[in-house]
Parts: sequence; structure tokens; C-alpha cells
Amino acid sequence: MGPDLTSIGSIRSGHDLLEAIVFPSASFVPGHEVYRVKTKKSSEILSGVIGEQDSDAITLISGPNAELRLPRDQIASMEPSTVTLMPEGLDTSLTQQEFTDLLAFLQAER
Ligand code: HEM
Repeated sequence: MGPDLTSIGSIRSGHDLLEAIVFPSASFVPGHEVYRVKTKKSSEILSGVIGEQDSDAITLISGPNAELRLPRDQIASMEPSTVTLMPEGLDTSLTQQEFTDLLAFLQAER
């Protein structure tokens, strides 16, 4: 559900990669913006990236195995979110060596 990272090292600088991981909501990758959707049925707000869509429905992807098809006529409101789905804290859950290795790995993905 996130962007394809297989050649990320050729399109992003080390600084951009670091920022994307340490401050994931600081910028959004086009096509992977998160939306907050309210349906007419419930007051619960659903968050996700928009997947396939046609004139009848949109698909909201809120996790690796969580896709929801929402008929357009059931959508009460839809607005861009300021928070990404990219998890925060990757830099603090890894050791400094692991984090350095991860950044080096991403930079080498060309
Ligand atoms: C080791 C794990 C991960 C790494 C190293 C990683 C790395 C990255 C990087 C470098 C970007 C920016 C890409 C760009 O600038 O073009 C990004 C964006 C994104 N990632 Fe991750 N990611 C990881 C895990 C995840 C997971 C588990 C999710 C979802 C549950 C996720 C969702 C996203 C989304 C939606 C974006 C695009 C929106 C944004 O820029 O915030 N990532 N990720």
C-alpha cells in the first residue's frame, strides 16, 4: 500500500529518505495520500489510501490486508488527512546500526 521502493535510491536523496522515515507525515508521495472518509451509515471515520475507483465506488486501503469497497452514494464526506499511514517510530525501534543499514540499503536500491 505504500510506494514501490525498489528504485527509491535513484529518485530520493539520503536526506529525503531520512525525513520520510523519521517524520513520515511531513510530506506525502503523490498517489499515496491518505483520506478520511465518513459514510452515511456510521459516525466512524475511515482512513486509507484510495485504490481502484470507478463511477459507482471507491476502494479504501487502510492496511496491508484491509481493503474496503465503498459505494459512492454511501459516502457522506471525504477529506485529505494530514497524517500518513506510514508508521512512525521506525528510527527508535531499530538500533542505530540497524537504522544505518536500512538507510544504506534504501540508498542502494537503484
Ligand atoms: C521497513 C519498513 C518501511 C520502510 C523502510 C519504509 C520507507 C518509506 C519511504 C522511504 C517512503 C517515502 C517514499 C518516497 O519518498 O517516494 C515511504 C512512504 C510511505 N510508506 Fe513506508 N516504509 C516502511 C513501512 C511502511 C508500512 C508498514 C506502511 C503501511 C502500513 C507504509 C506506508 C507508506 C505510505 C502510505 C507511504 C506514502 C505516504 C507518505 O509519504 O507518507 N510504509 N515509506
